[in-house]
Amino acid sequence: MGKVAVGAAVIGAAAVVGVAALVVRQRMKSSGRWARAMSILKEFEEKCGTPEGKLKQVADAMTVEMHAGLVSEGGSKLKMLISYVDNLPTGDEDGVFYALDLGGTNFRVLRVQLGGKEGGIVHQEFTEASIPPALMGGTSDALFDYIAEKLAKFVDEEEQMFHQPPGRQRELGFTFSFPVMQTSINSGTLIRWTKGFSINDTVGQDVVAELTNALKRKGVEMRVAALVNDTIGTLAGGRYTNNDVALAVILGTGTNAAYVERAQAIPKWHGPLPKSGEMVINMEWGNFRSSHLPLTEYDHALDVESLNPGEQIFEKLTSGMYLGEILRRVLLKMADEAFFFGGEVPAKLKIPFILRTPEMSAMHHDTSSDLRVVGNKLKDTLDISNTSLKMRRVVVELCNIVATRGARLAAAGILGMLKKMGRDTKSEGGGKTVIAMDGGLYEHYTEYSKCLEYTLNELLGEEAASTISVEHSNDGSGIGAALLAASHSLYLNEKSS
Ligand code: GLC
Repeated sequence: MGKVAVGAAVIGAAAVVGVAALVVRQRMKSSGRWARAMSILKEFEEKCGTPEGKLKQVADAMTVEMHAGLVSEGGSKLKMLISYVDNLPTGDEDGVFYALDLGGTNFRVLRVQLGGKEGGIVHQEFTEASIPPALMGGTSDALFDYIAEKLAKFVDEEEQMFHQPPGRQRELGFTFSFPVMQTSINSGTLIRWTKGFSINDTVGQDVVAELTNALKRKGVEMRVAALVNDTIGTLAGGRYTNNDVALAVILGTGTNAAYVERAQAIPKWHGPLPKSGEMVINMEWGNFRSSHLPLTEYDHALDVESLNPGEQIFEKLTSGMYLGEILRRVLLKMADEAFFFGGEVPAKLKIPFILRTPEMSAMHHDTSSDLRVVGNKLKDTLDISNTSLKMRRVVVELCNIVATRGARLAAAGILGMLKKMGRDTKSEGGGKTVIAMDGGLYEHYTEYSKCLEYTLNELLGEEAASTISVEHSNDGSGIGAALLAASHSLYLNEKSS
């Protein structure tokens, strides 16, 4: 056979195989397809199981890792970063301060006017902008210039009444929600990026120096008085309004937690003992991992293909950046192996991160009798039309499995922290503990937050649960950073404006 003939024969054979496959797909009777889809669902559900016993093991593992991370740098997957915040806001803070909040898809610039004792927050104003995706993987200068420009505009447009008195520079609290090794309250180097950022030339750099240089380039006169993680800002913001706030949890694009630790329980802290005897710790719990975590084949694949393989495993199970993506992966397997959406795998379903958690949340919360929202979301985001009610029910069920596992694990993480703090049982003195929570996932994914709170109560038991409460600290992280800028101001002893 000549080359052409061989080629034709090969193409012919391929076509036959293709047609045969199509016939098999079509012949695979809907009952067979359905059974296969159900078995994928059931297996996923089993592997995602979080019975109470398992959650308690996860909580214990969290406590153990917290201890280990406090002993030495690198002692645990939990970084247990020292924040240099040894005094949370008291309410005496006074003056006009700024905050820059960078931590996910959006960033905010805020101005807060503090009225000292009794005065509280007299005035606050903010502007929000999204980070263009290209800047998340570009250069450090490009990212910081973009932020500095927005800040410059915000400051340029402000009213005279907010101007600082002569000789006094504006001061800013910088909420930078990534793992940072702090060297003081207003300096620290980036350990690594998380949440889809990957700007190599920032890693190992002092982020305050990066910001300060960008501010200079854009002609903004401003001193960075405090560098904080969003968990630290949330804790500070929460404490300002409620003295019982002792821990903060962020559930947004990423997830993390911070709490107040006794300085003497931090062997790796070699600095002077703070007057308060306390130090706030940024756990970076997103990087927690344990053999007790219920990981599935989908989680492994997501991790391997991510920008940070092997890292942020807890975050990849619980946070907003990943929940929709886990769901997409399960649906893809169903489409591929059980022809769940018909003979062809919908092309869009193959695109990583196309199904975002807000879409998943909208489907999960669909209360219409025909699951109309689910149908519309499948159509709009994945180009999947003509789904039956039965199929849409399966999608909701999958949302529920993914969200429930995430929320229950987050609750187990909190239990681990409460144990470390000795607050998981009712104390003699009847003390209360308030957890300041923030983040888009917590705020908008109601099924998730309800499940988290329910699970926390279940794990604590009625008596201990009665001493613990969860408070939504709306945008606490920005305000908290401004408060910490105020308490670390250069002009603390001067009379403020
Ligand atoms: C990621 C970051 C962490 C941050 C959290 C919530 O886990 O590493 O610093 O606090 O997201 O935004």
